[in-house]
Amino acid sequence: MPREPRAPTLPLPRGDGLSLRAAIHRACLDAIVAGRLPAGSRLPSARQLAADWRVSRNTVDDAIAALQADGVVVRRVGAGTFVASVPPRRKAAMRETTAAARAVLHDVSRWTRRTTERDAPGAVPRPQAFVAGLPDVDAFPLALWRRLTAARLRTSGRDLLGYAPPAGLPALRSALARHLALSRGLACAPEQVMIVNSTMQAVDLAARVLLERGERAWIEDPCYPNLRSTLAMAGVRAVGVPVDAAGLDVAAGCARAPRAALVHVSPACQYPLGVALAPERRRLLLDRAAARGAWILEDDYQADLALDGRPPAPLAAVDRSGRVLHLGTFTNAVYPSLRLAWIVLPAALVTTFEAVRAQLDHHSNAVAQAVLADFIDGGHLAAHLRRMRALYAARRDALLAALARHGVPAERIGPAHAGMHVAVHLPRSRPDRAVAARAAEAGVAVMPLSRYAVAARVNGLLLGYAALDERALTLAAVRLAPLLR
Ligand SMILES: Cc1ncc(COP(=O)(O)O)c(C=O)c1O
Repeated sequence: MPREPRAPTLPLPRGDGLSLRAAIHRACLDAIVAGRLPAGSRLPSARQLAADWRVSRNTVDDAIAALQADGVVVRRVGAGTFVASVPPRRKAAMRETTAAARAVLHDVSRWTRRTTERDAPGAVPRPQAFVAGLPDVDAFPLALWRRLTAARLRTSGRDLLGYAPPAGLPALRSALARHLALSRGLACAPEQVMIVNSTMQAVDLAARVLLERGERAWIEDPCYPNLRSTLAMAGVRAVGVPVDAAGLDVAAGCARAPRAALVHVSPACQYPLGVALAPERRRLLLDRAAARGAWILEDDYQADLALDGRPPAPLAAVDRSGRVLHLGTFTNAVYPSLRLAWIVLPAALVTTFEAVRAQLDHHSNAVAQAVLADFIDGGHLAAHLRRMRALYAARRDALLAALARHGVPAERIGPAHAGMHVAVHLPRSRPDRAVAARAAEAGVAVMPLSRYAVAARVNGLLLGYAALDERALTLAAVRLAPLLR
């Protein structure tokens, strides 16, 4: 007999053009705020709710995870999910927000409803096992950054306070061109470097400038979910192209969308699977781009943190047809909130990109750009990357060793050269969202690989290891391993 009362069964929530997951989340939130689900009551199991409502277990798991993020339910290991005690003031505020949000929701454009996943997880990642995509910000040389910032404000002062050039500060464009030549073997003129706020802004800009609305683009399947939304919002029809051990399957892309005008690809370290694009595929991709006049957006995400030697030269370094735009970010190499990234453009495109950027948000933060230029020129970026690679390699080794010690077969573990995370594959009989939900009950946050899928049947977990020390990783691996065996 459970000691806590079981919550009453809720009617199947529907309506308002919400996704099923958002509708379930909202119905539960409403019931908790209105007191129909009292504090301390146990929610029916996700399995039970999925059966009652005839929806997938994954949808219910996702909705419950969102309620957990709101702080209105808590999971207790081995006991179930319980309604948390929410202070009356917070309930009143939530009641107002949900009513107001409902009214506003009706006015969201159909375009947004169609092109975005409005209920994508919105939580800010925090350092816990095994959150992916978060560097170790504690290892960042903050005192040095503070000194460089103070020095820049002292020497450049008000020069940095007005509007800045749309393509970025010349000092940063030059520093970055030198850095890319040394670290990635990519020779480019500073004038080809454009500074943007993020890789996704680079993708958005490229889609707006290069494609007609409704044109098709290949994206790797699985891939970073925001990439799909970014392209969709820019009016591009993204087509998922499978990724295997040799990276993007170019032949499959040609069969699925032969006329695609653009390809987004992460050849150095595919995200999230961690594979590198094989030489034969690189050639095919470049030949196709040259022959068809298609564009390649080469996303060099995490190439600067590759742990086992240098990754292959960027496609942009070998392209002879001027069809490759090379994208990179300082999110992991420096710190995420810096919000600075870059595009290396074929020379012929620079003026157009500058003109379009000037009509959007003008430019990126000039003070941050100036400090970053000094950070690079002083050799600090290269030194920091060296330290981070050593730190992350030790963490990766500790995690893989712990998984091996606790019986996770090596053949389930994907390539782990990619810097900050590793994919662990699961047998089909163990759906990854259910495993992730059970891991959450055991206090371990993992991202199901199926979340990154467009149509691919990937099944596994993405384990980020960069933001935690070896002890924390080993302890979490011990808790997770039984779910992976
Ligand atoms: C392939 C890829 N590119 C880019 C990003 C994010 O880069 P930024 O922070 O510059 O948008 C991610 C984040 O996970 C990613 O997976």
